[in-house]
Formats: sequence, structure tokens, C-alpha cells
Amino acid sequence: MHETRERVLSAIADGPVSGPDLAAQLGVSRAAVWKHVEALRERGFTITSGDEGYALDGVPEFGGSAVAYGLDAPFEIEYHDAVPSTNARARELADEGASDVVVLADEQTGGRGRLDRTWHSPSGGIWLSVLFRPDVPMAATPVFTLAAAVAVARAAREAGVEAVIKWPNDVLVEVDGEERKLVGILTEMEGEADRVSWVVVGIGINANVDPAALPSDAGATSLSAVKGAPVDRRRFTQRVLETFDTVGADPEAVLDEWREYASTLGRRVRIDTPGGDITGEAVDIEYPGSLVVDTGEERVTVAAGDCD
Ligand code: BTN
Repeated sequence: MHETRERVLSAIADGPVSGPDLAAQLGVSRAAVWKHVEALRERGFTITSGDEGYALDGVPEFGGSAVAYGLDAPFEIEYHDAVPSTNARARELADEGASDVVVLADEQTGGRGRLDRTWHSPSGGIWLSVLFRPDVPMAATPVFTLAAAVAVARAAREAGVEAVIKWPNDVLVEVDGEERKLVGILTEMEGEADRVSWVVVGIGINANVDPAALPSDAGATSLSAVKGAPVDRRRFTQRVLETFDTVGADPEAVLDEWREYASTLGRRVRIDTPGGDITGEAVDIEYPGSLVVDTGEERVTVAAGDCD
């Protein structure tokens, strides 16, 4: 967010501050203060102006300025009410040389899932892509997908929804004895074997979405459907980005927290891999994101595949 506007919000968050005091604090003219206040009102912030001055009375439910306000992570937010795909937009930004940007949307009109599937993204969700440039080899990138799953599962649990993670990248919740999908993650990257140029981690969260708006065969649900009330999308998005930023920088922490939330570990699994099916008990996760499966005869480390 514009730095002066952020300072205006912090200054008036705890009660009224007069125009002249605000101008002095910020080192700008009273006319400039008024312009910033108007710009913030246009972005949905409720700012009252009484005898004692300006006071912050409400923050928008969602949007770029809303998420940027109070966000404790070093990302710039590019917000769209609607966009074809936040991943596609983040890739464009990557081609322009950008980094540490989050593309965020209320609705996607051409959301993409894994294996070229369509990802339904009606208004009310949290559809976002984080673009960053880590100094790691290509082979290390699966850990960022795990970090995203951990970040969303932690935020869901903080919001009262007992989310679990299914390897490699689904965040699910149990409804009437069946696991239903809350979140999908699509990680894309470019670079050379020994060094990544950029990574885009796309996270699709069925937040305040009516499950009836999702395809009936998708086995999906939403945070609001599970809770019976809408979630605070602003706070939820902030928590996801903050956790992704801190945990993502520490692979051991990612694996530890992933194990805590995993529904896959301890279960019998069948994994469809390019080399054929692997069946056995999922016993652990290994850096950078491989599942360790005990087939009864040996322990196999599976780097990628679809897991039943
Ligand atoms: C999956 O198939 O499970 C992955 C779905 C990933 C969807 C997200 S929504 C935000 C970002 N933009 C996209 O077009 N896809 C990802």
C-alpha cells in the first residue's frame, strides 16, 4: 500500500486525530491528508471526521488495500475483482522481472488446476498467487508447495476448521465422514536445474463460496459451509501469507508442521506415478516433499504422483 496512506491508517486506528496533527505527524499538508483520506475511503475504509478529527471506523472485508493493511509479510499485493487466472497474471509479472508480489482476486474466470484441469473460482473465494525468486535449485521447490499447504491448514485451524493435508498438495476437511477439498495448490516455476529463476505458488481457497457453485463431482466444500458463517477473508489471507513467508524459509519447520496436519501418514495409499502404481502404507514425508511408502517389501520414496 501507498506508504503515507498506511501511516494515516496507523495514526487514526486508535482514535481520532485532528487534520493539523495528522499533517504534522506525516510531514505533509492538510490538503494532502484530506486527499489520502478520500483515497482510503474510495478503497472501502470507513473513516469518520468529527470535531476531534479523523478516526478509522472500519476496514474493508477484502481487497488489495485491506489485505496490505496490517500485513506482516514483505509482499506487494496486486488485487483484481476478477481476473482470468492469478497464476497466469503472476507469470506475466515474473516475465517483467517482478518478485515478492501476491496477485489476489475475488473471482477467477479461467482458474487453472493441476494436470490442466479447470479450477472453479467463483466470487467469494481467496484466489492468490505468490511470486518470488528463491535462491535454490529446481529440485528444492516442492517444499514451497508443502509450505503453502501448511500455511492454509494452520489458518483454517485458527479459524475453527480442522483442515488436514493430503499429499502432495490438497487441504481437506472431513464432512459427514468424507474428506472434502477446501484448497488446491498449483506451483509453477522457471529456471535451470541448479537455480530457480522464479516460483509462482498458486493457492485457491474455497472461502466464502457456496459449494453449490462448485462442480458437483469435485468433492469440494468451503470454509463458510463448514463453519456455517463467512470467514474474515482479509485476516485469513494475511495469516496464509505470513505463515508462508516465515515457515517457507525453514524447510525443517515445514516438514514438522506438515506431519502434524497430514491425513496421509499412517494410511494405506495407492499412488499413480509415471512409472506405475505404488501401493503401501504412507509412513513419512522427506525433504523436499517426497512421500515415503512402505510397500511391505521395501520403503519407496515417491517424489510425485496422484494419491488415492
Ligand atoms: C489443484 O488442481 O488442486 C490446484 C488448483 C490451484 C488453483 C489456484 S487458484 C489461484 C491460482 N490461480 C490459478 O489459476 N490456479 C491457482
